[in-house]
Amino acid sequence: MATTSMPRLTSTFLAVAAAALLAGAAAPAVDAAIVDGLQVGFYNRSCPAAEEAVRDVISSEIAMDRTIAAGLIRIFFHDCFITGCDASILLDETPSGDVPEKESSANGFTLHGLRSIDVAKSTVESMCPRTVSCADILAFAARDAAVAAGIPFYEVAAGRRDGTRSNMDDLPGNMPTPSHQVPRMTELFTKRGLTQEDLVVLSGAHSIGGAHCFMFSNRIYGFSQGADIDPALDPAFAANLRRVCPPPKQGDDPQQSPKVSFDGRTSEKLDSTYYTEVLAARGLMSSDDALIKDPQTKPTVDLFAGDDALWQQKFAEAMQKLGAVDVLVGEQQGQIRRECRLVNKQSRQPAPSVPRLKKPRFPRFMPGSGFHGFF
Ligand code: HEM
Ligand SMILES: *[C@@H]1O[C@H](CO)[C@@H](O)[C@H](O)[C@H]1NC(C)=O
Repeated sequence: MATTSMPRLTSTFLAVAAAALLAGAAAPAVDAAIVDGLQVGFYNRSCPAAEEAVRDVISSEIAMDRTIAAGLIRIFFHDCFITGCDASILLDETPSGDVPEKESSANGFTLHGLRSIDVAKSTVESMCPRTVSCADILAFAARDAAVAAGIPFYEVAAGRRDGTRSNMDDLPGNMPTPSHQVPRMTELFTKRGLTQEDLVVLSGAHSIGGAHCFMFSNRIYGFSQGADIDPALDPAFAANLRRVCPPPKQGDDPQQSPKVSFDGRTSEKLDSTYYTEVLAARGLMSSDDALIKDPQTKPTVDLFAGDDALWQQKFAEAMQKLGAVDVLVGEQQGQIRRECRLVNKQSRQPAPSVPRLKKPRFPRFMPGSGFHGFF
């Protein structure tokens, strides 16, 4: 395979291909897969300075606001998980009129760092017009963010093309939610060609950034009939969360919800403290705590908690693999968007006199009933 200089990733591709072959026709339908065909140095000739330009933009964006690193990594995950890494998450509107992924309750205002991608795109576009895809810029930016947060440098194979569709209805049933347990999350990862180990490895991204109170308030208020607070939570940690997060009330505006760091100690460093925190009953969301509740994933959490270097290496590899999910490759597929927010030749709609979005698509709370889920 001459297309990549990443032996580890190559063997992953082969393993996935072999597994698919062995599984044969009896295998359950897999509607996405790790696609081969991306190349390290894809822009060597067409835009040799592209990667460096993205890196410069992202490092200055992060220098201005350290929290953007986490945001960029999450945007990349949410892009790749829904219709592959095709920058569909960046679209503000679609040619079909579908309401884009961006407006899903799992995205919306919780996406952080979108503006940095615009800056990177316009910088690269001024150097090499219509050459570098938004999907590749996002993959480079997520890598640069991970490296800025302490992950050793890893190569990003490129050649992704940008998609032309984006639909918020693709999220339910595909995107994990904070109340999911391991079997469901594993199923969703498997649908994307990723493994249960990838789930555990990539969840370690929750070592940086944070979550808004409404994402986990069901664990600290009215958890169950018998327990107001999730007994799986460290009581001191839960008490602290209650000090930061007011009890949810009907009609709360989610945008006013405070945001809490996943890892209060090293919230800007991608390290394996995520795993030690989860083991110490200080995982913020039920989906984090789920990793130690489940006997299939608990040993991997134990392993990473004790080996920062191992986890960092695995994280880099898993990000490479995530970046190959269902990508569009070759001139026949997709396009190189000129603007990441719009499909080419689609002119921005004039501002409607009546707002097109009648109400924000975010969960509302009923007193005492806790988290209603995204969808
Ligand atoms: C598998 C189950 C997962 C669930 C249920 C989940 C859910 C969430 C939720 C609810 C938030 C809080 C968003 C907010 O309130 O602003 C969040 C934040 C975050 N997630 Fe995940 N996530 C998962 C996996 C991942 C993966 C695989 C990655 C990346 C590889 C990732 C990266 C992040 C990052 C970096 C943040 C912090 C964002 C910020 O501070 O702006 N997550 N996640
Ligand atoms: C681009 O250049 C790098 C460094 O010289 C090299 O490792 C890589 O294979 C090249 N990639 C392509 C697709 O030409």
